[in-house]
Amino acid sequence: MRASEEQKQERDRLTWSAWGANLTLEQFCRRERVLRAHPWAVHGMNTWLWVDESGAVLSSCESFACTSVFRGLWARSYAIASVFTEEKLRGQGHASRMMDALVLEIRRHDPLAHAVVLYSDVGKALYERSGFLGLPAWDVELDPCEGDVMEGVDELLPELVPELPPPPAEEPFVIWPDRHQMDWHRARERFYGDVLGRARSLSCGARVGRSQIYWTADFKQEQLLVLLVTEPEWKALERLLVAARRMAHRLRLTRVLLWEDASLAPFLAGLSGARRRPRHGALPMILPLQEGLRPEEWRLRSRALWV
Ligand SMILES: CC(C)(COP(=O)(O)OP(=O)(O)OC[C@H]1O[C@@H](n2cnc3c(N)ncnc32)[C@H](O)[C@@H]1OP(=O)(O)O)[C@@H](O)C(=O)NCCC(=O)NCCS
Repeated sequence: MRASEEQKQERDRLTWSAWGANLTLEQFCRRERVLRAHPWAVHGMNTWLWVDESGAVLSSCESFACTSVFRGLWARSYAIASVFTEEKLRGQGHASRMMDALVLEIRRHDPLAHAVVLYSDVGKALYERSGFLGLPAWDVELDPCEGDVMEGVDELLPELVPELPPPPAEEPFVIWPDRHQMDWHRARERFYGDVLGRARSLSCGARVGRSQIYWTADFKQEQLLVLLVTEPEWKALERLLVAARRMAHRLRLTRVLLWEDASLAPFLAGLSGARRRPRHGALPMILPLQEGLRPEEWRLRSRALWV
């Protein structure tokens, strides 16, 4: 069942232990309220409760509606996040049954939906039981460097995320963020920046020629996250990543983190100073809902899609 506003706030108080690092309980609850009030969440986010016959909550999670295109047809895919069972209730199959029920509900409510995806922090086994398949996940890390962020790029993108270019037409299946989804990530930067009193990026990325990079500061992990690179080209990407490293340095962050995907892998292989590592946590998993959609066709898995 869908949670009421009061029930959402009750869950916030419980989930603080899992996701509230660096924040007091009050700050975490405020963060959750702020993020739920963001236009992207208001439009497509739901909090789900798995309850017993008496109405007691056994497990909870959130879903976010994302736009996706499969063989030229636009529809939605759903990203699941914040799967949570209280410690005393764990190991009894509550989370698994909730996932099964939610997938059924998504199928019923949105028969055109392309897929359900999630980013697992607890390995694959739990979600494999509900039919999800894990995909490879590699991170690329770069050190911050000194220098003028603007030098070498054609422009810095404004704080207010502009309309994004369309997804690459040659991909069979793409989940493609819109500007509101991108700004939802940046709302975290604004929140943590205010709470922790940190200087903010005040720019959502940079452009060189047709290639654009979108970023956000992650003050929780002290890193600059590359959310998305659109229309990557070799020379342009090199310059955009230098700008990202300089932005990380300006914000006193310890690294730039980029989620490698099929559009970036060929360029990143030869990039000097880039450290490539298998990802721990946030493992992308997918459950296709449309006939003919193969899990491995989800090739563009940028950090922008994480929820
Ligand atoms: C993960 C979580 C939601 C599972 O809830 P649950 O109701 O106990 O789940 P189920 O009983 O349906 O399934 C349990 C299975 O989940 C997997 N699992 C749970 N926690 C795990 C962990 N920390 N690491 C790896 N696998 C884990 C195991 O496969 C486990 O099976 P087992 O009991 O046979 O070992 C719960 O442990 C939790 O709330 N953890 C803290 C928040 C969190 O990490 N959420 C997941 C975000 S992706």
